[in-house]
Amino acid sequence: MAEKIRLGIIGCGGIARSRHITGMTILKRAGLDNFEVTAVCDTVEENAQAVAAHAREQQGAQPVIYRDWEEMVCKAPIDAVDICLPHGLHHVVGIACLEAGLHVLVEKPYTVTLKTGRALAEAADRAGKVLAVAVPHRRMPGQRAVAWALNEAHLIGEVRTFFANYTQWRPPRAPEQLSPAMVWRYNREMGGGAGVIDSGFHFLDTIRYFYGEPEQVYAEVRAYRDGAPVVAREGIAHERENTVMALFSFKSGVIGTWCWSFAVAGKETRDCVINGSEGSIEDTGYSNRFVVYHQFMGPGELRRRDGTYLSMEELQARHRREIGPERVQQLFPNGVTDHFAIEIWDFLDAIERGRKPEVDGWDGLRTLALVEAIYESSWSGRAVRIDDLLAGEVPSGWQRDIDAYWDQHPAPHLVR
Ligand SMILES: NC(=O)c1ccc[n+]([C@@H]2O[C@H](COP(=O)([O-])OP(=O)(O)OC[C@H]3O[C@@H](n4cnc5c(N)ncnc54)[C@H](O)[C@@H]3O)[C@@H](O)[C@H]2O)c1
Repeated sequence: MAEKIRLGIIGCGGIARSRHITGMTILKRAGLDNFEVTAVCDTVEENAQAVAAHAREQQGAQPVIYRDWEEMVCKAPIDAVDICLPHGLHHVVGIACLEAGLHVLVEKPYTVTLKTGRALAEAADRAGKVLAVAVPHRRMPGQRAVAWALNEAHLIGEVRTFFANYTQWRPPRAPEQLSPAMVWRYNREMGGGAGVIDSGFHFLDTIRYFYGEPEQVYAEVRAYRDGAPVVAREGIAHERENTVMALFSFKSGVIGTWCWSFAVAGKETRDCVINGSEGSIEDTGYSNRFVVYHQFMGPGELRRRDGTYLSMEELQARHRREIGPERVQQLFPNGVTDHFAIEIWDFLDAIERGRKPEVDGWDGLRTLALVEAIYESSWSGRAVRIDDLLAGEVPSGWQRDIDAYWDQHPAPHLVR
C-alpha cells in the first residue's frame, strides 16, 4: 500500500493514552510506519487533546479532534478506527464504522453479550472490512513461548490440567471512590459484568490460545458483600462479582479451573500451573496481583520428570531459536515485543495485506462465549456447553436484560 492507513482513535481514556498511543510510537520507531493518526474523538475534550498531542509529537501532523463519534465517522479523513470505548459501545460504534466502510480494531472484551457480538462479526463480513480484537497478552514473549511449548514442542508431554487460582482480600470501594473509568464499569449495560468479562477476557483468550476450543463450563459466581452473599441466579439482583469458581473442559481433553476471590481474608491462594504427562509450566509471578488474569507476563518455570528445568528466560530463548528468524519476525515484527504495539501492527498489517487478523470478530465471539458461559452457568445452576451456547440453544438469563437495553439503542446508520 503506497498511502499510509489513516487511523482514527475513538475513546481517548486510560488504555488509549497509556498503551495504544505509546504502542503506535513503538511501531514508528521500529520502522513499522504504514499509518498515521488523522483523527481522535472523545466526549471529554482534555482526553482527546492529550492523545492528539501525543500523535502530533510522534508523527508531526495534528489529528483532527472530534467530540462526537458520529460526526467523526461521517467526516474524518480516516480508513480505520481503533475503538477504546466503554464495553457497551463497542458493538454500536463498531457496526456503524463497518457499515460506513471503515476497518475496525476493537478493545477487549469484544462486546457485552453474544447477540451484540454476533451482530458485530456479521457487520464485518457484510462490509468486507477487517475487524480485529485487541487482546494483547497472547502476543507477549511469555505466552508465545508457552503456547509453543505446549502445542508444538510438546515439552510437557500430553497437556492434561491447569489450575489458575487466586485469593486475596481487597476492600470494597464505595461509589464516591470510583474513578471515571470505573463509573461506567459499574453500569451493567456498559460494563456487561465485572472481573469475568473485563480483565477476565484476557485470561479466557489465553486458555483458548493454549488449549484450543472449549467444550463445557460449570461455574459458581458470587458477589460477597457484608451480610448474605449475592448469587448470580435468576430472581436475585445483579451485582458485580468478586468471587468465581469455574471448571472448564476442552475438546483437546484438557480440564482446568479458574477460581478467584477478592472477598476472602486470611491465607492467600496462588496457583498458576499447567501440568502434562511429562512435566509442568508454572507462572511464578505471584507477587503480580493481575496474575489471576494475565498469565506468563513475568517469571516462570518449566520442569520435567526427567529432571529438565528451564526458567522462563531459557524457555523463551529456546522458542526463538527453534522457530527460526522468519517466524520470529512474524511474532515480533522488527524486534518489537510490546504486546499493545504488536496487536495494533497485526490490525494494520491485516488491512495492508488483505489478510485475516490473528483475532477477528468470530474469534472474539468464541472467547466471549466463555465469559457468558460462566455467567449463564451460575445463573442456571447447570453446566453450559459452548457450542450449544453459540447456537442459541441455552436460554439467556444473565444477558437478557443487557440485550433488551441494546435492542432499544441500535447502531445508527452513518454514511461517509
Ligand atoms: N488491553 C488491556 O489490557 C486493557 C486495559 C484497560 C482497558 N481496556 C479496555 O479499553 C476500553 C476502554 O477502557 P479504559 O480503561 O481506557 O476506560 P476509560 O473510561 O479510561 O476510557 C474510555 C474513554 O471513552 C470516552 N467516551 C465514553 N463514551 C464516549 C462516547 N460516546 N464518545 C466518545 N468518547 C467516549 C471517555 O470519555 C473516556 O475517555 C475498554 O474496552 C476496556 O476494557 C483494555
